Amino acid sequence: MNIKGVVLAGGTGSRLFPLTKVTNKHLLPVGMAPMIWHPLWKLKEAGAEEILIVTGTEHMGDMVGCMGSGKDFGCRFSYKVQDEAGGIAQALALAENFAGGAPLCVILGDNIFQDNLKEETATFLRQGQGARVLLKPVADPQRFGVADVQGDKVAGIEEKPKAPKSNLAVTGIYFYDGQVFDIIRQQKPSGRGEMEITDVNNVYIQREQLTFGMFHGWWSDAGTFPSLAHANELASREESPFPEIARKV
Ligand code: DAU
Repeated sequence: MNIKGVVLAGGTGSRLFPLTKVTNKHLLPVGMAPMIWHPLWKLKEAGAEEILIVTGTEHMGDMVGCMGSGKDFGCRFSYKVQDEAGGIAQALALAENFAGGAPLCVILGDNIFQDNLKEETATFLRQGQGARVLLKPVADPQRFGVADVQGDKVAGIEEKPKAPKSNLAVTGIYFYDGQVFDIIRQQKPSGRGEMEITDVNNVYIQREQLTFGMFHGWWSDAGTFPSLAHANELASREESPFPEIARKV
């Protein structure tokens, strides 16, 4: 079965206000392209031909205007509206019909990184069931989901811990099997009122079905002013995603 791709590009973008006053965070420039082109390109490289883009109500028109059907990108794009920014797991729940039981590679729309996902995708497909996350050592783990790795297993993940058990951030690149939608259905919002992807991953850990890989190249989110500047600097050193479209325009 081929992997299908999901890019989660909802949320309010409040940490980047006023840049996000009239447009979606994921359409802001990173390197030579709109932010969301980076995860789309990574999914295409990984072999996903069908990709679902989830975004909020305010800028759905701009998203469709920017990416269209996917014809120019050599992919098939679908779109789903997340009515309110109720969390990453809530956004992912909207992908159930799209997935139709197929394995998924899910990328947060503000995650920008260097590694090609082809090998990780093959590893996950061989795994057959469960979930897989990708970890990266960072200097500021308090900002992320943090993995407690014991031997070759993740023993637990804590979301934005004050006293992190490690410096290993859980990046916003996730592989899931079809169980993920039942798991989300059984979840409740966290203290901050969001359906947390970390809670989903912890259920897979309890089921002993979560594996992990490490990122080798650079990785950054782009959801704050410093991280957006950093991601922009890193991405500017690489070739643009979808270079043939960039050149055509
Ligand atoms: O970047 C990796 C981190 O992303 C992980 O380490 C954390 O475990 C995970 O919770 C997440 O943390 P953030 O605080 O960075 O998430 P944020 O609210 O910034 O959302 C990241 C992306 O997820 C955003 O660019 C779009 C998507 N999203 C988010 C929310 C809250 C949605 O599509 N819908 C939403 O409701």
